[in-house]
Amino acid sequence: MDRLYREICYASTALLVVLRRKAMFKVKNGALCIAAGLVLILAVNCVSVKDSKESVVKGTTSDAPGEGEREFTLEKGHFDLIKLPPDPFKQNKRLGRGINLGNALDAPNEGEWGVMLKEEYFKIIADAGFDSVRIPCRWSNHALEKKPYTIDPNFFGRVDWAIKNALKNNLYVMLNIHHYLEMNSDPNGNSERFLGLWQQIAEHYKDYPDSLLFEPLNEPTEKLTAELWNDLLKKALAVVRKSNPHRTVVIGPAGSNAVHSLRRLEIPEGDRNIIVSVHYYDPSQFTHQGAEWVGEKSKEWLGTTWTGEKRQKQEIKHNFKRAADWAKKHNRPISLGEFGAYEKADMDSRAAWTAYVAKTAIENGWSFHYWEFCSGFGAFDQEKNAWKEPLLKALIQPDK
Ligand code: BGC
Repeated sequence: MDRLYREICYASTALLVVLRRKAMFKVKNGALCIAAGLVLILAVNCVSVKDSKESVVKGTTSDAPGEGEREFTLEKGHFDLIKLPPDPFKQNKRLGRGINLGNALDAPNEGEWGVMLKEEYFKIIADAGFDSVRIPCRWSNHALEKKPYTIDPNFFGRVDWAIKNALKNNLYVMLNIHHYLEMNSDPNGNSERFLGLWQQIAEHYKDYPDSLLFEPLNEPTEKLTAELWNDLLKKALAVVRKSNPHRTVVIGPAGSNAVHSLRRLEIPEGDRNIIVSVHYYDPSQFTHQGAEWVGEKSKEWLGTTWTGEKRQKQEIKHNFKRAADWAKKHNRPISLGEFGAYEKADMDSRAAWTAYVAKTAIENGWSFHYWEFCSGFGAFDQEKNAWKEPLLKALIQPDK
């Protein structure tokens, strides 16, 4: 069809030129006719691009922050932008250096563990140089026990508020289910509810940008064995993928996300939009000295220092290498979802350990989230409304 148009067009333009030459038209009219003819040719050529089978052009746009890659297809004149899942390695780079907003929305109720999130915190975190926040959330305390496990809209509203404030400050967000303790003590009795929670969370945030990432569960442990977790994570991923085919998901191994548990982690091979998470608190005699929730033994650890001796550094290097080797073999990016040292340790040791762990994570190409912002491990002093400089420096400039 387009060829016919084109030919008619060429013919009429030629005719107009001939007519003008034969002085049958006034000069002005002739010029106008030639212009009209050219416009016609152009229009017909556009139609021909639209109809031509040879005009299929495919490519990938360069991706903007917060936006996943787009595949474009210029086919039959339609410029289609087809959304591709983001590259998890790039997503991990964007997570960069982060901090956990711990002990807030993961407390039984926000505020009960001494932290109420404030709008200004997000700006303070972004201004300090962080790229992302991990927002631990105890959804299980804010949802019906029985089917359909409806999540309290007020809690959703509060989490929405936190995510929006993070995004407003250009912080990437890792959103998880945290402290669902019953999952660890009775996995079979809770897995349906767990999946029901994810169905709602995923649906609720499905239109959020790629800068929001989901992490199905913090530190699966106890009765939630590797075998059970590998099975459950597959189901959770399937639930998430129904409404969020392109959401980057962060998954850690059973055994409290420890590095040595990675070898038992099984993630669906075909799903590449995944970042694997590990947590690091070794040696716990140092990081958890005096930590009340660890029990009596932690009191005996009080006074343990970390001075960055060769063997201390080697232990961290060695453990991280194990994770890095696993990641290389499985072609997955790694995020260090938690690491930190409790306030009962001395500040010099805390800063030295934190800096070394952060630096080693960066050297391995990992993203990280320090545990945590302004509570017992906190890098920020709520009362003074100021950063604890040695810790901030350790996280932002670990080399200096
Ligand atoms: C827990 C926190 C705890 C931290 C260090 C996290 O996974 O959720 O409650 O303070 O580990 O033990």
